[in-house]
This record gives sequence, structure tokens and C-alpha cells, in this order.
Amino acid sequence: MWPDIPRVGAGECHVWIADAVRVPSQQPLLELLDARERARHDAYVRESDRALYLTAHALLRQVVAAQLGGDPREVRFTHECRHCDRPEPHGKPGLVDSALELSLSHSGDRVAVALSLPGPVGVDIERVADDGRAADLAPVVLAAAERDELERLSAGERAWGFTRYWARKEAVLKATGDGLMVEPALVTVSAPGAPAALLEWRERAEPHLPVRLHDVDAGDGYRAAVAVLGDQCRVVRHEVGLST
Ligand SMILES: CC(C)(COP(=O)(O)OP(=O)(O)OC[C@H]1O[C@@H](n2cnc3c(N)ncnc32)[C@H](O)[C@@H]1OP(=O)(O)O)[C@@H](O)C(=O)NCCC(=O)NCCS
Repeated sequence: MWPDIPRVGAGECHVWIADAVRVPSQQPLLELLDARERARHDAYVRESDRALYLTAHALLRQVVAAQLGGDPREVRFTHECRHCDRPEPHGKPGLVDSALELSLSHSGDRVAVALSLPGPVGVDIERVADDGRAADLAPVVLAAAERDELERLSAGERAWGFTRYWARKEAVLKATGDGLMVEPALVTVSAPGAPAALLEWRERAEPHLPVRLHDVDAGDGYRAAVAVLGDQCRVVRHEVGLST
């Protein structure tokens, strides 16, 4: 389905941005999923949510299989939660017996999948929602300095500015595996118009590996970011059938 998948070299993080697959092309992809993934796919009520989930997980299986060799259906994932020991698989996804790190994200009609060789990775993609969400969520999820920066933007720029903040923060929290169990307001990232960087993380739990934060072009109407822990790395972006 997705030809010519490049290999991830040492010191690299690759990010694939893809549109959700359309209905007729779904069956071959469904066959790539394992039983747990298929059950999660089937549980979504809306067709668009099923397509989004399917795209993310089928793409992940294919890009991982292209690195490791072998059948995408045979890729085995781990799930690690830093916050509880509930038995069902949940939390940050990883791979059995591989140094390759991975992350995935879905929003609107688009997905992002990241593979990294330097270290743990978190990717986040967000559709820019021009529906007042920025105004509602900013007081809760932004740090004081970020709220001040957002206020400085014109009303028309605030939705994308907020989305930029949100994608950067969530990428950081997904790289560490904390997810939204850590209050996003504890994490301060650079202003939307400035190069991506983690500026501060109050009450951060050990270990404190350096966080390398990068924006990723996610196409019109979307913002995305990727965070890698540890050594500096080169970010390589790929896109798969983005509608314009
Ligand atoms: C994980 C989380 C950050 C995802 O945010 P989101 O914007 O809703 O979703 P995204 O599309 O960007 O990412 C979803 C993917 O993140 C991955 N993920 C899940 N938990 C993760 C974690 N702790 N760290 C990193 N990645 C995680 C999964 O691959 C998931 O994909 P899937 O649901 O299709 O399997 C957020 O939902 C969260 O923190 N959830 C856990 C909160 C919670 O209630 N935990 C209770 C159990 S301790």
C-alpha cells in the first residue's frame, strides 16, 4: 500500500504524515492488524474514526516491518504505562527486541507515525480547530508565559498558535511516556513563531534526558511536532497522499 519505505539510519528520526485511507482500500490494511487492534478499530462508531485508526496502525506496522524485515502482521508491540499497573496493554508503545523507538498520532483526517534510532520519540499531530477551543483550553493547558504569548497574537492567529503549542507539548509528553497524566501547563515550550524548543518543565520526574523538539510540516490545517530524548538527531519527513 505504501511503497518505497526508507530505512531509518543511526541518528535519524523519520516522520510519516498520511491522510486517512478511503473506504475501498481498507480491507487489505485491516488484514495487517492483530486481534486487539482490530477490536479497537471495530469499536469506533464513526467510519472516519475507524479509517483514521486503521491508517495509523497499518502504516506503523508497514514502516516498522520495512526496518526490521519480515511481515507487517508479525510485528510485536509492547505498551508501557509509567503511571499504573493495569493489566490490559496501554501507555507508550514500543517494540519487542529492537532499539527502534516509535510513536503515532491521529487527528482530524490525518496521522503521523515516527520512528527514531537515537532514543524515545513522541509525535503529535493536531487539526487546527477554529471553534473556540483555544480560548477554552488555553487557561488550563498553557503555562503563564505561553498564555501571554498567545494573547499577543491577533485573534485570527490564535487557533494556529494554540495548536502549535499543543502539538509541541504533547510530543514532549509522549516522548517521555507521561502523556496527559502530567499537566501540560507544567511544560513550557517556545512561542509559536519561534523555533521549537522545550524551555522549562516544572516538577519533571527523573530521568532527565535532553529533549530535542522539532516542528513537522503536517500540511494545510494541521500542526505537528516530534520530540526525541537523548542525542541530537536529523528529522526526515515523508508524506503519504496528502490532499491539498
Ligand atoms: C496518550 C495521549 C497523550 C494521547 O493523546 P491524543 O491526542 O488523544 O492521541 P494521539 O492520537 O496523539 O496519540 C494516541 C497514541 O498515543 C500512543 N500512546 C498512548 N499512551 C501513550 C503514552 N503514555 N505515551 C506515549 N504515547 C502513548 C498510542 O499509540 C495511541 O494510539 P492508539 O490509541 O491508536 O493506540 C493521551 O490520550 C493520554 O495521556 N492518555 C492517557 C491518560 C489516562 O487516562 N491514563 C490512564 C491510565 S494510567
